[in-house]
Amino acid sequence: MISSIALLFVCVSVCTAHLCMLSPPQRSALNDINKAGSDSCILLDGPCGKVTPSVSKLFLQGGANLTVVFQKNLDHFNSVSPGYWSVSIGDEANNGTFKELYRTADTSIPSLSLLTAVITVPEPVGTKGEHMVLQTQYVTKNPKAPPVFYQCADIVIMKRN
Ligand SMILES: *[C@@H]1O[C@H](CO)[C@@H](O)[C@H](O)[C@H]1NC(C)=O
Ligand SMILES: *[C@@H]1O[C@H](CO)[C@@H](O)[C@H](O)[C@H]1NC(C)=O
Repeated sequence: MISSIALLFVCVSVCTAHLCMLSPPQRSALNDINKAGSDSCILLDGPCGKVTPSVSKLFLQGGANLTVVFQKNLDHFNSVSPGYWSVSIGDEANNGTFKELYRTADTSIPSLSLLTAVITVPEPVGTKGEHMVLQTQYVTKNPKAPPVFYQCADIVIMKRN
């Protein structure tokens, strides 16, 4: 009884806003994404939800445009102080060096809606492929929800020929 009440509490506070990243695919499996509140899409720890980096990485060209596709898996729009969605690229090994490339305000679109963001892949610093992380965030600004949901995909940025 006590534990089921505790579980309900956890669910009310945690199962309230989910983010899935479809393209490039998030590190962990994309299961049950047609269901609002999928367990695949609830990562609350920055910058990548403590998920091990993928072995396979997506190769991208510096300066190219990329359409990132992600899903509002469960709505928690706060009309009083709307949150936002953002896409950043950075180096997970050096925490905090993510550069935001896209941001859009959260709206009342329903759970399971898809969102797209067109970003321009930054140029790599060196001539070798640069191993980076593409990170999507759902910042809820909603006191009844976790503050931020994270998803990451592993990429390598190559210099243009
Ligand atoms: C890494 O950054 C996240 C926010 O993106 C923060 O929550 C976390 O505390 C940071 N970890 C370290 C070790 O600095
Ligand atoms: C990327 O998109 C921007 C904005 O639409 C456009 O101006 C630019 O030419 C595109 N770059 C490439 C490499 O396609």
